[in-house]
Amino acid sequence: MNRFANHARVAVPGVVAGLCMLMMLCPFETFDRASDRAMAQDAVGATEPTYVGKQVCRECHPENFELHRHSGHADTFATTLESEIAKKYAEKALDAGEPYGVFQYRFGQDGLQTRRMADSNQGAFPLQYVLGSGRNAVTLLTLIDDKGADVAGVEHRISWFGSHGDFGLTPGHAGMVPGNTTEVWGNVVRGKSVQQCVYCHTTTGTVVGTEIVNLVADVNCEKCHGPGSGHVRQARASSSPPPYSVGREQWDLESELQLCGDCHRLPRHIDPLALREYTSELLRFQPVGLLRSECYLESEGNFMCSTCHNPHQDSKTKSTADYEQDCRNCHQPNSDDHVACSVSPTDGCIECHMPAKTFEQGMVFHDHWIRIRKEP
Ligand code: HEC
Ligand code: HEC
Ligand code: HEC
Ligand code: HEC
Ligand code: HEC
Ligand code: HEC
Ligand code: HEC
Repeated sequence: MNRFANHARVAVPGVVAGLCMLMMLCPFETFDRASDRAMAQDAVGATEPTYVGKQVCRECHPENFELHRHSGHADTFATTLESEIAKKYAEKALDAGEPYGVFQYRFGQDGLQTRRMADSNQGAFPLQYVLGSGRNAVTLLTLIDDKGADVAGVEHRISWFGSHGDFGLTPGHAGMVPGNTTEVWGNVVRGKSVQQCVYCHTTTGTVVGTEIVNLVADVNCEKCHGPGSGHVRQARASSSPPPYSVGREQWDLESELQLCGDCHRLPRHIDPLALREYTSELLRFQPVGLLRSECYLESEGNFMCSTCHNPHQDSKTKSTADYEQDCRNCHQPNSDDHVACSVSPTDGCIECHMPAKTFEQGMVFHDHWIRIRKEP
């Protein structure tokens, strides 16, 4: 079984662990065992669940669908043919800096392609996939035959940034020098790194050669909830289907941190030195900051991403006042359970304790290490 068949593992354990705790049927076990058990349970009178696609979920969960549709998760992966943002490159000439030179772009039958003005003998290079919704940025990725045993892709050197409404160097590409004729198009990512690009930006898909097999683009319902065929069948047969995946009641802190942290990064994904020094790079990795906040450490499992975020909703469509209400749900003045702020007990919480910080090229992230800050 390939590693992507495992991806539902992230969502399933919470359900099963939750079910176990609810029904006192089984002890809490490791994720792998729990997911095996889920598969086994589903196998009662059924085959292994498969992906049905978000349009099917929409039939019965129109509200979650509508929220999700307008969130970044619904738009993390597309071909350049499908993407509106890819059209911004068309007929442009963009300077990638020496020694790359100027790239020229146009659309062909298979999507966007580019040529280098400095080297008119070299053919056009196809630009296949668009990663990111463009709220912050998009980066273009092309799978290539690297003539090695492993899969590989080129992360194109020029990205588009919604954060400042213009093109710019792909983050991490400054100072790079192409070592061969492939690297003139961008940075070559190989093996696990290119699989992970696809893993974090899609519901399911595996890079095989220069193709992605079983591709379901974007971070859709079934990325977080697991393949839904069993649930749909049960829900069509009965208006109170057996529990499936994460629902409010069975949902617990540890499963949620594993689910969101699988992509948004957990401390285990970070170099220990950077972790110790909490470099500004880490602002992008919200779970890392959150896990060192007093709010998390002192709340005994009651403080998680969904304390403040509806996982289906674009985080920017919730007002700052509503986020501050989340803070006040715990930090009420004159409460015995929690301390209140001596500086501003009723508002301004986010600005002072979770400020927005610019990371790179105008991309802004909120520091999720909630604390009393010495610096503003
Ligand atoms: C499969 C990987 C993956 C998982 C799992 C995941 N995310 Fe994301 N998330 C992303 C990607 C990729 C983006 C960037 C979307 C874009 O380009 O705008 C994102 C963006 C976001 C954003 C900012 C954009 C928006 O629409 O508000 C929030 C907030 C967010 N995720 C919260 C969560 C939470 C909470 C969870 C867990 C319940 C979670 N994510 C699980 C990959 C993931
Ligand atoms: C471990 C999971 C993971 C991997 C691997 C990953 N991404 Fe992402 N990506 C995310 C998440 C989560 C976000 C949203 C938060 C953020 O912006 O960092 C994101 C955001 C982005 C964005 C939008 C800009 C931004 O920073 O918000 C682009 C573009 C992008 N990724 C491209 C890529 C490319 C290209 C690769 C492979 C070379 C890749 N990603 C690998 C999880 C991942
Ligand atoms: C980024 C991960 C993520 C994605 C994508 C996602 N969900 Fe959820 N969903 C969750 C989590 C976590 C919970 C439990 C916590 C909560 O409800 O806030 C949940 C709860 C639910 C619930 C039960 C509670 C409620 O809101 O009624 C339903 C139904 C649901 N999701 C349906 C969907 C559908 C349909 C989609 C796709 C349109 C979807 N989800 C996409 C993470 C996700
Ligand atoms: C035929 C109708 C139907 C379809 C299609 C459907 N659901 Fe449900 N779903 C239900 C019903 C009914 C419930 C239980 C009552 C409730 O919570 O609303 C439910 C509950 C849920 C829950 C809450 C957790 C739980 O165990 O109760 C989640 C999460 C969920 N559905 C996700 C999905 C996803 C993801 C899809 C698409 C793969 C989907 N549903 C497709 C009818 C449906
Ligand atoms: C689920 C409850 C909960 C929520 C929600 C919550 N906190 Fe906390 N927070 C705590 C607990 C518990 C502590 C430890 C002190 C105490 O018992 O009040 C704490 C401590 C703090 C501290 C002191 C940190 C230190 O280093 O001394 C600050 C500042 C803080 N919270 C700010 C916030 C802000 C701002 C928000 C909203 C963005 C928020 N909290 C949301 C539970 C919560
Ligand atoms: C105490 C409340 C709170 C909790 C808990 C929380 N967030 Fe946030 N988050 C916020 C606020 C406030 C914003 C800024 C929203 C805006 O743009 O106005 C935000 C923004 C984000 C964004 C958009 C990029 C950014 O940093 O501005 C992502 C992604 C995100 N959160 C992920 C997560 C994940 C994953 C978790 C759980 C590990 C989490 N958050 C837990 C309050 C919270
Ligand atoms: C103008 C900036 C500012 C605003 C606005 C603000 N805080 Fe604070 N907060 C501080 C500072 C500074 C401290 C440290 C005060 C001290 O050490 O005497 C603090 C302390 C705290 C503490 C720790 C109190 C203790 O006795 O340990 C909590 C909890 C807290 N704030 C929560 C909040 C919440 C919740 C909000 C919104 C309702 C908020 N803060 C708004 C700056 C602010």
